Amino acid sequence: MKDSDPTTEPIGQHLIKLISNLCFSVFVFSVLIITVIAITYQPPDPWLESTPALTKFFTSSENATFKNDESVVKTGEDLVSVLPPAISPALGNQITEEVIEKSEEVIANSTTLKLNCDELRGVNCSDPRILIAVERFNLKAFKSIAFLEYQSPVNGSKEDECDVSWRFRNKKEKSWRKYRDFRRFKFDVGEDCDYKVVHAGGWHSGINARRPRSAMNNRSRGGGSGRVAPPVRDEEINDTIPTLGSETNFRKGKYLYYSRGGDYCKGMNQYLWSFLCGLGEAMYLNRTFVMDLSVCLAGSYNPSNKDEEGKDFRFYFDFEHLKEVASIVEEGEFVRDWKKWDKGHKRKIPVRKVVSHKVTPMQLRKDKNTIIMRQFDAPEPENYWYRVCEGQAAKYIQRPWHAVWKSKRLMNIVTEISGRMDWDFDAVHVVRGEKAQNKELWPHLDSDTAPDAILEKLKGMVQPWRNLYIATNEPFYNYFDKLRSNFKVHLLDDFKELWGNTSEWYNETTLVNNGRPVEFDGYMRVAVDTEVFYRAKTRVETFYNLTKDCKDGINTC
Ligand SMILES: *[C@@H]1O[C@H](CO)[C@@H](O)[C@H](O)[C@H]1NC(C)=O
Ligand SMILES: *[C@@H]1O[C@H](CO)[C@@H](O)[C@H](O)[C@H]1NC(C)=O
Ligand SMILES: *[C@@H]1O[C@H](CO)[C@@H](O)[C@H](O)[C@H]1NC(C)=O
Ligand SMILES: *[C@@H]1O[C@H](CO)[C@@H](O)[C@H](O)[C@H]1NC(C)=O
Ligand SMILES: *[C@@H]1O[C@H](CO)[C@@H](O)[C@H](O)[C@H]1NC(C)=O
Ligand SMILES: *[C@@H]1O[C@H](CO)[C@@H](O)[C@H](O)[C@H]1NC(C)=O
Ligand SMILES: *[C@@H]1O[C@H](CO)[C@@H](O)[C@H](O)[C@H]1NC(C)=O
Ligand SMILES: *[C@@H]1O[C@H](CO)[C@@H](O)[C@H](O)[C@H]1NC(C)=O
Ligand SMILES: *[C@@H]1O[C@H](CO)[C@@H](O)[C@H](O)[C@H]1NC(C)=O
Ligand SMILES: *[C@@H]1O[C@H](CO)[C@@H](O)[C@H](O)[C@H]1NC(C)=O
Repeated sequence: MKDSDPTTEPIGQHLIKLISNLCFSVFVFSVLIITVIAITYQPPDPWLESTPALTKFFTSSENATFKNDESVVKTGEDLVSVLPPAISPALGNQITEEVIEKSEEVIANSTTLKLNCDELRGVNCSDPRILIAVERFNLKAFKSIAFLEYQSPVNGSKEDECDVSWRFRNKKEKSWRKYRDFRRFKFDVGEDCDYKVVHAGGWHSGINARRPRSAMNNRSRGGGSGRVAPPVRDEEINDTIPTLGSETNFRKGKYLYYSRGGDYCKGMNQYLWSFLCGLGEAMYLNRTFVMDLSVCLAGSYNPSNKDEEGKDFRFYFDFEHLKEVASIVEEGEFVRDWKKWDKGHKRKIPVRKVVSHKVTPMQLRKDKNTIIMRQFDAPEPENYWYRVCEGQAAKYIQRPWHAVWKSKRLMNIVTEISGRMDWDFDAVHVVRGEKAQNKELWPHLDSDTAPDAILEKLKGMVQPWRNLYIATNEPFYNYFDKLRSNFKVHLLDDFKELWGNTSEWYNETTLVNNGRPVEFDGYMRVAVDTEVFYRAKTRVETFYNLTKDCKDGINTC
C-alpha cells in the first residue's frame, strides 16, 4: 500500500485529501481567466489560444459565475510585459558583455591596476579582475538570468576562493523585482595571467558575501567577510500598512468604499476578478480605494476543506507593489479616521451610499461626496463586486492587472527552488486528482499519467539525468519513484524546509501575522509549484503532451 510508505506519513490524511481535491488545473482555469483578460487586454501571451467556447461564454453572458476555481491565476508579473518608463532605466544597468569589456578597459588603462604577470600569484579577492571573471562566468552559466548589481567580492574560506553577491532578475518574470544570490567561487590563475573560475558553488553558497541585516540598505558596503553572518532576510520587502497621517489629509481625500460582498470566501480567481473591478472603478473615478486586507481562503485550498477567514492579502500578493501603483487605504485605518472625524466635527463627512451594482461608475463620475460607499447586500449573484464592471461599464473600466503581483515572499521560495537546481532543469506538469478519477470526462488521463506512461513519454522529450521538476497535485510522494531511474526528480515537498518553522518565509509571515505562525496552504503550494514550472527549460504539459484527453473534458478541444 502506498499509504504505509514512510515518506507519505508526514503529509497526513487530511492534506492528502486536500491535494486530491485540489484540482490543479492551471490550464483549465488560467485559460478561463486569460480569456477574460484577453477581452480587454490582449497581452502577447502564448496561452491566449484558448477554447473559443469560453470566450463565447464570457462575452455573451453577463452573469459569468466562477466555477472550477481551484488553480492559480496568472498575475501582473506573468502578463504585463510593458515596464513603466520611470522604472525601466533601472534595468539599464544590467551587466552585459559590453559592460564587462568597459570595466576591463578601465583596468587596462589604469596605471595602478596594471600588473605584470609575475605579481599575480595568489588569488586576491579585492582585485577587480576577480569580479570580471565571475561576471563572465555567470553570463555564460545562467542564460535565463539578468544580472544587475554586484557587490565587491570578499574572501571565501580558502586562499583561492572568493564569495560574491549580486542582484538579479529572471528574464521570464516580467516584473522588475530583484532577487539576491551569493556564491562561492574557486579560482585559478591562467597562463595569460587571467583569473579563471574553476568551480562555482551552489545557490547561496557564498555566505561571507551575504550582507549583514543592518547594512542591507547601505549600497556602499562591500561585504561582511570574517564576520559571523546573521540570518538572511529580505529587508527589501516593505508591506507595512500606510496611514493617512493627519485629519486634514483624510478630509482632503476622496474614497471609494466597497462593503463586503458575495465574493467573500469564493475562490481566489473570483476574488481577484472582483477586487480588480473595484480598484479599476476607483482609478476611473480618481478615488482612493478602501481595501480590506483580510482574505477568506476558500475551503478547496485548505486541508480542513473549510473556508478560512483571517488570511492576509500579503500572504499571497505583493502589497508593496500595489501601494506603489494604486491609491489605496487599508479599511481599518480608514474607518478609524472616519469615525474620529465625525466625532470631532459638527459637519459630518459627506457620504453617498450606492445600494445596487446597477448604478454605473459613469453615473458616479460627477459625484463630489468624500466617500462613495457601494453596498452589496442583495442576494447572490447580485452581490458580487465584479458585477459593477459588467455591461456598459466594461467599456470604461479597465482592470489594473499590472497592480497585482504574487507575494515576493512566495517568489523568494520559487527563486530558491529554481536556484538550487541552478536554473537548469526541465519540468513536467502532472494533473491527477479528481480529473484522473473522472473517467467520463477524461477517459485516458489516469492511465496516461501512470508512472510507466510518463517515463515512456518523457524519454523522448527530456535528456537522461537532467533535473526534472514535477509540478503535480498527486499527493503520494513516492508515486513518481519510477522516474528516478532516468532523471534527477524534484518535487515541491523536497523543499519543505523553505517554509518550515526555521525558514525565512516562516519568520517573515509570522511577523506580518502579528506573531502567529502562518500555514503554507494549498493555494501557496500551487502558486509556487506553478511558478517553478514556468521557469523550466523544457516544459511538458499533461494535456496534449502526456495525454490526448482535453483539458476541459471530453470533446472540448
Ligand atoms: C442574468 O441574470 C438575470 C437575473 O439573474 C437574468 O434575468 C438574465 O437573463 C441573465 N442573463 C443571462 C445572459 O444569462
Ligand atoms: C583607454 O585608453 C584608450 C587608448 O589610450 C582610449 O581610447 C580609451 O578611451 C580609454 N578607455 C577608458 C575607459 O578610459
Ligand atoms: C589586492 O588587490 C587590491 C586592489 O588591486 C590591492 O589594493 C591590494 O594591495 C591587493 N592585495 C594583495 C595582498 O595583493
Ligand atoms: C583576505 O585574504 C588575504 C590573504 O588570502 C588577506 O591578506 C586579507 O587580509 C584577507 N581580507 C580580509 C578582509 O580578511
Ligand atoms: C553606509 O556605509 C558608509 C561606509 O561604510 C557609511 O559612511 C554610511 O554612513 C552608511 N550609510 C548608512 C545609511 O548607513
Ligand atoms: C515602508 O513604506 C512606507 C510607505 O508605504 C514608509 O512610510 C515607511 O517609511 C517604509 N518603511 C521602511 C522601513 O522603509
Ligand atoms: C481623473 O483625472 C484625470 C486626469 O487628472 C481626468 O482626465 C479625468 O477626467 C478624471 N476623472 C474623473 C472621473 O474625475
Ligand atoms: C518546528 O517544527 C518541529 C517539527 O514540526 C518541532 O519539533 C519544533 O519544535 C518546531 N520548532 C519551533 C521553534 O517551533
Ligand atoms: C527566524 O527567527 C528565529 C527567532 O527570531 C531565529 O532564531 C532564526 O534564525 C530566524 N530564521 C531565519 C531563517 O531568519
Ligand atoms: C507539448 O505540446 C505542445 C503542443 O502540442 C508542443 O508545442 C510542445 O512542443 C510539446 N512539448 C514538448 C516538450 O514536446
